[in-house]
Amino acid sequence: MTDAMTLSHTPAAGGGEARAALPELTVVVPTYNEGANVAVLAERLAAVLGGLAWEVVFVDDDSPDGTADAVRALAARMPQVRLLHRVGRRGLSGACIEGILNAQAPVVAVMDADLQHDEAALPAMFAALAADPALDLVIGSRHVDGGTVGQGLSALRRRGSDGATRLARRVLGLRVSDPMSGFFMVRRSAFIGVVLDLQRQGFKILADMLSASGGRWKVAEVPYTFRPRHAGASKLDGAVTLEFLGLLVSRLTGGLLPIRFVLFLAVGATGVLVQLAGVRLAMLAAGGHFGAAQVLGVALAMTTNFAANNALTWRDRRLRGRAFLRGLLTFYAVCAVGAVGNVIVARALYRLFPDWLLASLGGAAVGAVWNFWASLTVTWKAR
Ligand code: GDD
Ligand code: MN
Repeated sequence: MTDAMTLSHTPAAGGGEARAALPELTVVVPTYNEGANVAVLAERLAAVLGGLAWEVVFVDDDSPDGTADAVRALAARMPQVRLLHRVGRRGLSGACIEGILNAQAPVVAVMDADLQHDEAALPAMFAALAADPALDLVIGSRHVDGGTVGQGLSALRRRGSDGATRLARRVLGLRVSDPMSGFFMVRRSAFIGVVLDLQRQGFKILADMLSASGGRWKVAEVPYTFRPRHAGASKLDGAVTLEFLGLLVSRLTGGLLPIRFVLFLAVGATGVLVQLAGVRLAMLAAGGHFGAAQVLGVALAMTTNFAANNALTWRDRRLRGRAFLRGLLTFYAVCAVGAVGNVIVARALYRLFPDWLLASLGGAAVGAVWNFWASLTVTWKAR
């Protein structure tokens, strides 16, 4: 009898190639500027996955270093390699989600492109899922016996990672040892069950998935040693940390407030402080003309809010150059309309219930929702 592996290389009767056997395992690898790593990783995968029908899907966000071309060149000589090329958007979690949805195999692994995750752990992770049909997820963990962070993280990153792990476990009620891991293997059917609840923004798809599964998944952990990055640089920066806090708040609201809206509100709160500081300074400088000082303070706050939202809230759609200026002008317009709506709603509420605090907060809430929605659809509209 011909087994599935040989079948894929046997020409079918009547000409053309037979359809390749469907893979048993899909490895999803998100990439951003990983051109120097993809070939090494694919070869290492081939070395450890020899006994399986497997494929690797590189999900590239149009990296400026030409990672997508490197993957295409690789695919020309390795039939297991596929490319998912995304344009006009950025984000690790979103890339993983699309990669998993594109997987052909019923079991899907996610790992980084930079060789920090130990591919030698994949067969054990696969074997665990094959042995137990009830198992939904296997996590590559740096924190169970036999696993370690090794030389993979700087002392500062390590402290941050430990803090984030504790916070995620407490806030999200997670019991696993390494919810921050970017290395895991999941049954596609289980993933499909939670995918509509997942946030595309941010880095922490595993923590989000575990939270979305509401503790109903059967989870195992397999140890591995986190290695130093092969080539290139990490994309994890301060904004990723803030996105992670946004994810926790979003989850605390049961997903009602998306990460983006949480970040937008946080930026808005800093805008209030900027406005107050601006008014105070303008009063000092201009000898106490409050009306003019207030106008300056508001303009300053709108400007810093725009810059902060551009760098954080919509950093996946960040505006630069001329688009930055056009965005700033539309943002002023959006905020102006929001302010008028804020006053109209607050006055209407005040007529219904004459409580100034409630009415004013009500106006602010409507203004914030409007500003967010209009910013999303006008200033930072998806391309
Ligand atoms: N498609 C796509 N789009 N891929 C991305 C993006 C993006 O916007 N940002 C990062 N990646 C890819 C990188 O190219 C890499 O393959 C992988 O995602 C992880 O990114 P790194 O920049 O290497 O992250 P890290 O090593 O600092 O963080 C890793 O370790 C953390 C634990 O310490 C990741 O695995 C995190 O998920 C993990 O929490
Ligand atoms: Mn890395």
